[in-house]
Amino acid sequence: MTYPIVIYGHQILRKVAEEIDKDYPNLNQFIEDLFETMYHSEGLGLAAPQVGKSIRIFVIDGKPVAEDEPSLADFKKTFINAHITEKCGDFQLMNEGCLSIPNLREEVNRESHIRIKYYDENWEFHDEVYDGYKARIIQHEYDHLDGILFVDKVSPLRKRLLKSKLAAISKGKFDAEYKTILPGQKIK
Ligand code: NI
Repeated sequence: MTYPIVIYGHQILRKVAEEIDKDYPNLNQFIEDLFETMYHSEGLGLAAPQVGKSIRIFVIDGKPVAEDEPSLADFKKTFINAHITEKCGDFQLMNEGCLSIPNLREEVNRESHIRIKYYDENWEFHDEVYDGYKARIIQHEYDHLDGILFVDKVSPLRKRLLKSKLAAISKGKFDAEYKTILPGQKIK
């Protein structure tokens, strides 16, 4: 099944998500549904808080951009209880968007290298380093677990310019090809 996507302004997107343990109910089904929702809404990544669950899981599949970024062709991963333990390298500006903030893209500055510890869908532990586009997507999704959105990271000037656009989005003024949950609406 696919979940509706929670939209900017909803408080669940601002919560720090909680770790889960191995016997979290229907975990495999949830991960499958997270992927299905991501594919349906044509995202590169999706974090559990975006479907209304404040738990530390996100999924990524880089296939949609594999033509431009061949290294992402097989980059399909599930991150459970993830913790970024190091960030380093130069800051790089790159255009980002988010399924929770439809029709808006902005340049975001992020560090180029990360180290991340997490469990995968088979509950295997990993301690890995990433750079480039992969590090970019991971950082964006990971931020969702800490209640951080990419628009928080734009320059103060851009932030002022975005204010009315974000207010409109949180009122439902956007075009999205997927179901959504607006601020104030209940998560089922
Ligand atoms: Ni996002």
